[in-house]
Amino acid sequence: MELEGKVAVVTGAASGIGRAIAEVFAAEGAAVVIGDLAPGAEDVVAGIERAGGRALFVRTDVTDEESVAALMATAVAGFGGLDVLVANAGIAEKKTPVHEMAMVDWQRVIDINLTGVALSNKHAIAHMVGQGGGAIVNMGSILAHVGQANSTAYSASKAGVVNFTRSAAVTYARQGIRVNAISPGYVRTPLVEGLPGNVQAGMVDKQPIGRLAEPGEIAQVALFLASERSSFVTGTCLHADGGYTAL
Ligand SMILES: NC(=O)c1ccc[n+]([C@@H]2O[C@H](COP(=O)([O-])OP(=O)(O)OC[C@H]3O[C@@H](n4cnc5c(N)ncnc54)[C@H](O)[C@@H]3O)[C@@H](O)[C@H]2O)c1
Repeated sequence: MELEGKVAVVTGAASGIGRAIAEVFAAEGAAVVIGDLAPGAEDVVAGIERAGGRALFVRTDVTDEESVAALMATAVAGFGGLDVLVANAGIAEKKTPVHEMAMVDWQRVIDINLTGVALSNKHAIAHMVGQGGGAIVNMGSILAHVGQANSTAYSASKAGVVNFTRSAAVTYARQGIRVNAISPGYVRTPLVEGLPGNVQAGMVDKQPIGRLAEPGEIAQVALFLASERSSFVTGTCLHADGGYTAL
């Protein structure tokens, strides 16, 4: 098993990509601590336990520093360490042209998608430095790399995540902490499945591979970056986008 004996915190794991990551990590031997606002995380924990794995849910708001600090401290106290962080919690935005943007909407997206990643990294790294190493995976997006009309806050937040990742990787490389990002294309999560059929068809058209990703396919990429298989990989962003950004 790839993560035998490891302790992994996954934010935003009540649903979608984060849920798949929590389930795959637990199946690979990690004790998983889920930080999410949504009570659905309890069902994810119950499923992992039924399958023979170990998991814990800590109600967490990734925009609140005390809440994030408590999440990491609970992981360390509950399972004896902190080896892996996946900073995955994120939201979509209300698509608006810039000149009509409500700054409260901008701030909400930046707070969750970018500041939430920074706070999660900060409080995980504080434990990892003391422990002598760790692996971090931050969730980017294709929209960190390409433009899309009326999607400025989300795009800015995700571009921020990708370059935050590079800087953190360089900072902690000599301390055994690897920091990488994933930029998924469109993935079949509740967020995407709730969109009208023609919007989903447009998403498929943009991906040369001709379909949406399944959440489990992104989880496999996270597993690679979290495990020793990627021991010489740090400061990179792995595009798991069916060829979207290769066009
Ligand atoms: N679905 C896609 O096509 C896609 C593509 C590229 C990137 N992403 C990114 O992947 C990540 C997961 O997306 P998803 O599609 O699985 O979404 P999702 O809505 O299914 O899951 C997101 C989770 O984050 C949690 N969350 C939201 N705000 C939070 C907060 N303040 N504190 C703690 N938890 C919070 C939600 O409760 C939810 O469980 C996001 O960062 C998203 O931007 C998704």
